[in-house]
Amino acid sequence: MKILSFGSLNYDHVYEMDHFVEPKETQSSLAYARGFGGKGLNQSIALAKAGMEVYHAGRVGNDGQDFIDYLNKYGVNTDYLLKDDSLATGHAIIEVCKGQNCIILHGGANQAIDERQIDEVLTHFEKGDVLLIQNEISNLAYLIDKASEKGLLIVFNTAPMNEKVFTYPLNKIDIFIVNEIEGAGLAGSESKNYEEIIACLKDKYPGKKIVMTVGESGSYFICDDLLVHQDAYKVEAIDTTAAGDTFTGFFLASYLKDKDIGKALDLAAKASSITVQGKGAAQSIPGIEEL
Ligand code: RIB
Repeated sequence: MKILSFGSLNYDHVYEMDHFVEPKETQSSLAYARGFGGKGLNQSIALAKAGMEVYHAGRVGNDGQDFIDYLNKYGVNTDYLLKDDSLATGHAIIEVCKGQNCIILHGGANQAIDERQIDEVLTHFEKGDVLLIQNEISNLAYLIDKASEKGLLIVFNTAPMNEKVFTYPLNKIDIFIVNEIEGAGLAGSESKNYEEIIACLKDKYPGKKIVMTVGESGSYFICDDLLVHQDAYKVEAIDTTAAGDTFTGFFLASYLKDKDIGKALDLAAKASSITVQGKGAAQSIPGIEEL
C-alpha cells in the first residue's frame, strides 16, 4: 500500500506578535522566521516521520528546489512533485500570538495543479493505495473523481474550510479529518456544542468515518453509531501551527497500520501535543522516537 499525499507546499513567513494586527493598525513583530509549510507538505512529513512510505505530489515554483530537498531529507518520495518555472511557490503569512495563529495564504503554484498533472500522477497508483488531500490545491473535484474511479481510499482533511468544499464529490470520500470549526461547517451546523455537531455529521454523512479534533477537549472518531473519544495531552502551547497536520499524519499512519482507532487517536494526540510546544510548521513535527 502506497500513500499519495497530493497537497500544498508553502513558504511560511512566521511573525511573533504582541497581539494580532487589527484594522488600521501597523505593528512591528517581536520576531520573524521563514520555514517550510503548507498543509500538504506538513502532513507528508508527519506520515513519513510516523514510518509510512509517502509520495508527495504537488507543484512548486522556480524557487521550489528547497522543498524537494527538504521532503527527501525525511524520506518522502518527490518523483511526482512538479517544478514549474513560470510560477512562484505558494506562501503563507502567519501571525503567532500567545500560542494561537492567524494565517494568510497565497496559493501560487498550489493553485496551478491541472487535470493533466492529476492524470499523470494517478497512473502510478492503484486500488488499495491511499490518497490524502487537504483544501489548498486546485482541481480537487477532478482528483477525487479520478482517484475514486481507480479504487483509492480517499482521506480528506477539509482545511481550510470554505464553500468550495461543497462543490467536491464528498460521497466519494472515505475518511474526513476536521477540527471543530470545519466539522460544524461540513455538518452545516451553527452549533458550538460538540455533541450537536457530531449528531449532524452522523446524519449528513452516514457510513463515513470522521475524525474531529476539538482542541483542548481532545478528539473524536465518529462512524454511524460508533463514537470514540480521546483526551488531549495537557501541555503549554507555544505555537499551534501544524498541530492539525501532525494529528492527521500520525492518526492516518497508525490507523492504516493497525486499524486500531483508540491507538491511532492516542498517537496522534501525543504527536500534536509535541508539535504545539515547538515553533513553526514542518520543523515542529516530532519523530516517532520522541513519542
Ligand atoms: O496547517 C498549517 C499550514 O497552513 C501552514 O504551514 C501554512 O502554510 C498553511 O498551509
